[in-house]
Amino acid sequence: MSKKLWNGFRKGIQVLLENGPGHTVSWVRYHLYERYREWSLGIETAGYQGWGAANDSSPDNSVYEPVCYDCLDRVLALLGIETDKEVFLDYGSGKGRVVTVAATHPFREVIGVELVPELVSIAENNIRRASGKFKCKKVNIVATDVTTFSVPDDVTVFFFFNPFTGNIMKKAQEQIYRSLNKNPRKIRIINMNSASDPDPFESCGWLQKTQDIPPGWWRKMRFVIHSNSAG
Ligand SMILES: C[S@@+](CC[C@H](N)C(=O)[O-])C[C@H]1O[C@@H](n2cnc3c(N)ncnc32)[C@H](O)[C@@H]1O
Repeated sequence: MSKKLWNGFRKGIQVLLENGPGHTVSWVRYHLYERYREWSLGIETAGYQGWGAANDSSPDNSVYEPVCYDCLDRVLALLGIETDKEVFLDYGSGKGRVVTVAATHPFREVIGVELVPELVSIAENNIRRASGKFKCKKVNIVATDVTTFSVPDDVTVFFFFNPFTGNIMKKAQEQIYRSLNKNPRKIRIINMNSASDPDPFESCGWLQKTQDIPPGWWRKMRFVIHSNSAG
């Protein structure tokens, strides 16, 4: 048995002893699905990266950690994307998991914004590797701090998986609001955060909560989708 497989087996026994059989089945299913999706897309986005943005910039910036594939697949399936009409933006795109999966849907364009240069080049490599499976033909990562980013006026779906908090989040919200004033349109904002944390979009009076997907097994995270009334 390889060392990796043996370590996985030992971890599984530990999970079983500490949390019982129900939790262990979900844990095994989660890990198998994560490996399957990485393999099927031919990319490497797993793992927590301690050298994320928070180390060398504002404490409001989060470090890299990818969203779970199962959660991502479920929320994208709910959107009812209008083929070749919609533009998707992932705020804090890391190694490109969200961008890559979004590009397998019929968006007109998929954009990621990422501060850490090492993560940008990993994401670009992942995009190259998965591009044969894309329905979307225009996929780009913008290497910049989100505070200096200008939101393209045709983005219709915004995705946030815990990229930053505090003033940086406020700036991102202001950017979206300004872009809507310039080009009024229907948008959706998907935010995934811990069920015990407040939803940062709750205070945006220009948005309405349209869906609140209760926490699943994975880290008790929930998705909230907000939308605006314009269109
Ligand atoms: C929790 S990870 C999410 C990664 C990806 N969206 C996913 O779900 O797989 C947050 C990402 O946001 C990036 N980030 C944090 N602050 C940022 C900022 N001010 N501008 C751009 N990216 C930022 C981090 O480097 C990290 O890659």
